[in-house]
Amino acid sequence: MQWIVKYLTSSIGKKQIMGCTGAFLALFIFGHMCGNFQLLNFDQAAAQASYNAYTEFLTGFNPLHFPVKMIYLIELVLVAAFALHIFLAVKLKIENKIARGGIDYEVNARKGKKTFATFTMIWSGLFVLVFLVQHLMMLKFGEHYLYMNDKGEIVRDMWLTTIQMFANPAWAAFYVVSMFVVGMHLFHAISSAFQTMGIAHQKWTPIIDIAGIVYSIVVALGFGITAVAAFYLGNQPETQALIEKSRALQPQYEQQQKEKAVQKAAFVIPSVGEVEVSFNAEI
Ligand code: HEM
Repeated sequence: MQWIVKYLTSSIGKKQIMGCTGAFLALFIFGHMCGNFQLLNFDQAAAQASYNAYTEFLTGFNPLHFPVKMIYLIELVLVAAFALHIFLAVKLKIENKIARGGIDYEVNARKGKKTFATFTMIWSGLFVLVFLVQHLMMLKFGEHYLYMNDKGEIVRDMWLTTIQMFANPAWAAFYVVSMFVVGMHLFHAISSAFQTMGIAHQKWTPIIDIAGIVYSIVVALGFGITAVAAFYLGNQPETQALIEKSRALQPQYEQQQKEKAVQKAAFVIPSVGEVEVSFNAEI
């Protein structure tokens, strides 16, 4: 047991946990980018349908019928990974600074010299944190537009929320800058993570370094192009017409919510207490 505490409090232990959480986040970012490529569709109605179907699928995904939706578990893991990664990065930065008597510099151990990416890792990381706060506030917890899916249900229109935010040139520019910073962070992070894990090989290390660079460029460009396309789409008259259509769904949505509330009746069984019973609308 003592060795776990020793490992977790050692510099290498913290760095390896940072590497693992970072690798997990880098994989999430890649999946997220691929999902967002659906925003590159310039046929608004088709893009709206496919993007909303995609977000509905993600939020409703529960193949094993867990009492808690899968998305909440995934979000929990994501928050834990981000929190651990950021906490350890700041802790290591402070410890390094103290160990060097307050002198703020970092060295790329393998090449024996400091690089711009190494030097700015903590700052690009903290910038990504600021970006994430804005990102979740504006999209996940942002404006609720409505959309009628192919089953006739009125659901959240995530496509419109996203496109509407990007319609603002200030947010679109902020995203392009943020994606450059995300790319810069990944640029150094990937080779560094392999190095921390002790994977150093004459033949493979240069290939890993190049793969890391290509990966960071692909991610920055992929997200950046998406942001520019969303800015263009957000400023098209067709998109504004879809906003009007979305607002017109409000009375129907309220009716749907009322019907759902009626179907969900609460029964009180004296010996057990309050038990909630849901009826399936199709029965
Ligand atoms: C053009 C760039 C991007 C677009 C259009 C975009 C779009 C979105 C949207 C629409 C959501 C809300 C999904 C929902 O609640 O159903 C979201 C969530 C999220 N995004 Fe992004 N994103 C972008 C870039 C990024 C980047 C670069 C990162 C990471 C550094 C990131 C991390 C996240 C996270 C952690 C969530 C929350 C996931 C969840 O709660 O399930 N996004 N994004």
